[in-house]
Amino acid sequence: MNGKEKVLVIDDELMPRYSMQQVLKDRYSVLTATGGIEGLESLENEPPDLVVLDIKMPDMDGVTVLREIKKRHPDIEVVLLTAYASIESARDAVRFGAIDYLMKPFDKDDLLNVVERGLKKKREREIRRLEHEELLGKTGILERQIVEVKQNLMMSYEGTVKALLLAIDAKDQYTAGHSEHVARLSHAIGEAMGLPEEAVESLRQSALIHDIGKIGVDETILKKRGPLIDEEFKEIRRHPEIGGRIVSAIPFLEEATMVIVYHHEKFNGTGFPAGLKGEEIPPMARIVTVADAIDAMMRDRPYRKRLPADKILSELLEGSGTQFDPAVVDIVIKKGLIV
Ligand SMILES: [Fe+2]
Repeated sequence: MNGKEKVLVIDDELMPRYSMQQVLKDRYSVLTATGGIEGLESLENEPPDLVVLDIKMPDMDGVTVLREIKKRHPDIEVVLLTAYASIESARDAVRFGAIDYLMKPFDKDDLLNVVERGLKKKREREIRRLEHEELLGKTGILERQIVEVKQNLMMSYEGTVKALLLAIDAKDQYTAGHSEHVARLSHAIGEAMGLPEEAVESLRQSALIHDIGKIGVDETILKKRGPLIDEEFKEIRRHPEIGGRIVSAIPFLEEATMVIVYHHEKFNGTGFPAGLKGEEIPPMARIVTVADAIDAMMRDRPYRKRLPADKILSELLEGSGTQFDPAVVDIVIKKGLIV
């Protein structure tokens, strides 16, 4: 292989075939074939970069050969060679992908020009193909990097949530199992409501840390066994806002902030801290409110025993539309999520 571009000349007539070979051989590596069938065979053995193809040949006409070449090797450029009598079919043949046609007897410079033009087109196409491949390669690398970054982010997200959860557990034993159960319930409600998978997962993580603000509440009040006085209630009611402030410093916990700050809002607007009403309350918070209440009713408290399932149900129905979002209560009951 001498590195020169390859040109295949297909012509049944000896003289033009020979003279074309002479004109082209200094610049290109030239192969010849004496007819369409031989030309197509040679094409398979050693694909050229460009074919100079006679239109009128006894074994197979040039237009048929051209179509066959383009079918098998769309990348190979074809220049047609035609006698005056076949000029119409040469013009027609350009439609089938030939770059141009030359009239017989051909001019030496015209031949060199048209062959060079065809090869230039092929070279440029090859460069574009390589650039495209390079781009695809780079895109692939970039996509893999994005997946990696996402995984790392997810890990730090989960790690942060876990650290926050441990921080609340250390302070308030009640919240330990509570947070996890509220998270499981919220997840189940979200799924039953047909929320997208990502939203359900985000809901679960948010519910896990909904009470994070209790870190900032006086421990003696959290652990008090007897009934609370007004001042103590006031102190406890600060936990949604404290929690909001804690997580607002963590950008990827933005959605959790909505749950943390608004999980004590009531559907009729009498909740805290903002007194939001109905749909003003973020949807995720409305779900966690119901899950939070269900879990609380399922536990023994210092001032009462855990409630049986039928009592929890009637409490939910009673609070539907006042304390709770009726749509959430509806789903909980329909899907039998209290067991
Ligand atoms: Fe809470």
